[in-house]
Amino acid sequence: MARICAAGGADAVSLTNTFLAMSIDTETRTPRLSNVTGGLSGPAIKPISLRMVYETARAVSIPILGMGGIVTPEDAVEFLLAGATAVQVGTASYADPRAVERLARGLDSWCRSHQVERVASLTGALENPKG
Ligand SMILES: Cc1cc2nc3c(=O)[nH]c(=O)nc-3n(C[C@H](O)[C@H](O)[C@H](O)COP(=O)(O)O)c2cc1C
Repeated sequence: MARICAAGGADAVSLTNTFLAMSIDTETRTPRLSNVTGGLSGPAIKPISLRMVYETARAVSIPILGMGGIVTPEDAVEFLLAGATAVQVGTASYADPRAVERLARGLDSWCRSHQVERVASLTGALENPKG
């Protein structure tokens, strides 16, 4: 999909959205969501989103906006290392309306304490796995 977007002239791609999910009340045996299924977001989806950003970064050269469960500065760093050029915060802002502000400050502190001069240098800077 990302390759098609890039070939079609997209300036960037953003991923991921929510993942379709479901919950059932065992007492009433009914779906907890009135629409039966709904989008799952937040920390539960982070490993999936991270994997998709990683794979997409290896498939296209246009910038990737990474999102999916980012709550801490380290979460944002993970997405950058996986290949994201920028990150987005959704669900965490519902719990803390100032989450983005907190994350931006936290990312700045993380970079200082890890001798990283430019956030941009983190993009795709994942070290090769063992072997
Ligand atoms: C309440 C809510 C509304 C959303 N509305 C949209 C939307 O209108 N369009 C869209 O592309 N994504 C929408 N999303 C998906 C988010 O932009 C984001 O991709 C997803 O929630 C994963 O990031 P997060 O875990 O930081 O929330 C929505 C997510 C939530 C939780």
